[in-house]
Amino acid sequence: MSRRRLSLLAGLLLGLAASGAGQTAAGGDRQMPANKFASQNDWWKHAVLYEIYPRSYADSNNDGTGDLPGITQHLDHLAQLGVDAIWITPCFPSPQVDFGYDVSDYRNIDPQYGTLADFDHLVAEAKKRDIKVILDFVVNHTSDKHRWFMESEKSKDNPYRDYYIWRDGKRSGQPPNNWTSTFGGPSWTFSDKTNQWYYHFFYPQQPDLNWRNPKVEQEMFDVTRFWYRHGVYGFRLDAVDTLFEDPNLTDNPPAEGTDAYGMAKQQHTYDHRPAEVHAELQKLRKVADEFPGRVLIGETWTETPQQLAEYYGPLNNELQMPMYFNFTKVTKLDAVQFRQKVAAIESNPVHGWPVYVLSNHDIRRYVDRYGNTGNKDQVAKLMSALYLTLRGSAIMYYGEEIGMENNDPKRVEDVKDVIGKKGWPKEIGRDGERTPMQWNRSVNAGFNKGAKPWLPVDANYKTHNVAAETADPQSVLNWYRGLIRLRRDNPAFYEGDYVSLNDTDANVMSFLRKSQHGTALVLLNFAAQPQAVSLDAGKVGAERARVLMTTGSQLGTVNITHLALNPYGVFIAELQP
Ligand code: GLC
Repeated sequence: MSRRRLSLLAGLLLGLAASGAGQTAAGGDRQMPANKFASQNDWWKHAVLYEIYPRSYADSNNDGTGDLPGITQHLDHLAQLGVDAIWITPCFPSPQVDFGYDVSDYRNIDPQYGTLADFDHLVAEAKKRDIKVILDFVVNHTSDKHRWFMESEKSKDNPYRDYYIWRDGKRSGQPPNNWTSTFGGPSWTFSDKTNQWYYHFFYPQQPDLNWRNPKVEQEMFDVTRFWYRHGVYGFRLDAVDTLFEDPNLTDNPPAEGTDAYGMAKQQHTYDHRPAEVHAELQKLRKVADEFPGRVLIGETWTETPQQLAEYYGPLNNELQMPMYFNFTKVTKLDAVQFRQKVAAIESNPVHGWPVYVLSNHDIRRYVDRYGNTGNKDQVAKLMSALYLTLRGSAIMYYGEEIGMENNDPKRVEDVKDVIGKKGWPKEIGRDGERTPMQWNRSVNAGFNKGAKPWLPVDANYKTHNVAAETADPQSVLNWYRGLIRLRRDNPAFYEGDYVSLNDTDANVMSFLRKSQHGTALVLLNFAAQPQAVSLDAGKVGAERARVLMTTGSQLGTVNITHLALNPYGVFIAELQP
């Protein structure tokens, strides 16, 4: 077939997709409309953020590890997808014990990812495409190879001693208290240089900073200013729940069972979230407010709506975007549980702006949590339709837009993540969700030019890659593009309230996004069987709606009082007055 005829065919297929045959989705080469909120200070409220694990995104120099120029080369993909900002997990100099979450210099770029000039270039190129860059700020701890810690370790009277938490043992050979590290073993390590113990909630190579020391505070505030001046639009703050601990070092109460590393479990009562964390984050927010439009995002693994509410600050003066992780805690496709999780944040005491997350570099990809071999693409369309149509910001994880799966190690010898090595087989580590991004069908899925990638490319790359899915109107990628376009285009999605419908339905989640400028209806079938949905036209406020996106075959304007949904089906429509 000639090239011209091929492109005519592609155009026809895309036209069909956009006009509603089968999956109704904007995609392909159609331009994404600009986000009209992009230049406002609260741009993040209407944003889709996209997390990039830089080791795994694109390897421009073919050394097996992804890098910043690799990200720059793929900005067009991100622009076409419609993301407003990218959050890059730590790319600072680091011994890489925890793949960058052990920072040895907060003001530079690790040579394996590039240079500061590469970073500036990335920011400039992203800006041309209206994409903002967010960095990951590891606030709780540094690397043990950070200059501050190496000084601190030398002597009790070293000027950097109080940058960290050093204590005497309870008695000879015993740590100061019973606290355990989330990465296994006691959270204290003894140093025979001074016969004291230092505290680390994570690995021993990640000593906790002492934020009660005003010098630490100032150093860290200045780090954020440094990056704001490099054009960074904000920070995802790592591990904020453990920024402070009880100053009296009270023992944690015991809990049932043992952890993956063989330690007795405990309730983390005294090493998490004392009130000081909020006062400190409010100060960090003041620094952010020196620069317009900057945003603070929190890795906030909270247990209750009240705890999450506190992170917004009493006057919305703390984190603009504390992440809502409760979706990630749902273990199966269950309309009732997801409806409850939405209700919980919608009724959150401070009514803070929700920040939805389904997957990240620490948790199994959601298609693996909820799907099986036969239905992962359907699950991808269902779950993306859920979190991208809710009131709130969404944080995507790279690869979810093409339905990437976990590619878990099968043997402990292959594991790279230290917690997987230590905890195997109970804890297999996080390699599975961190494998190379799949760009096309070529060698290593286009991640690089053939050098062995640091983690293996998933076998499904031949079908699940950006190039193949761009050409397929029914793909997960074109579905995501369609949803993100809807969020930008349609007032119901960017300004509407959330109104739950049919609250007792066990299989279908139904809701409105209701604004003064239009109302949209969203129906999501969480079941493997087709479902019939009846809606009360009086409650909904209309009998007819114009189909916007569907995994079914409805076209044009339809009666919505009785609708059929296919297995895992999605139906999104705009009410007609
Ligand atoms: C956060 C990061 C995780 C890291 C840990 C220690 O939870 O998301 O990847 O291992 O902090 O920094």
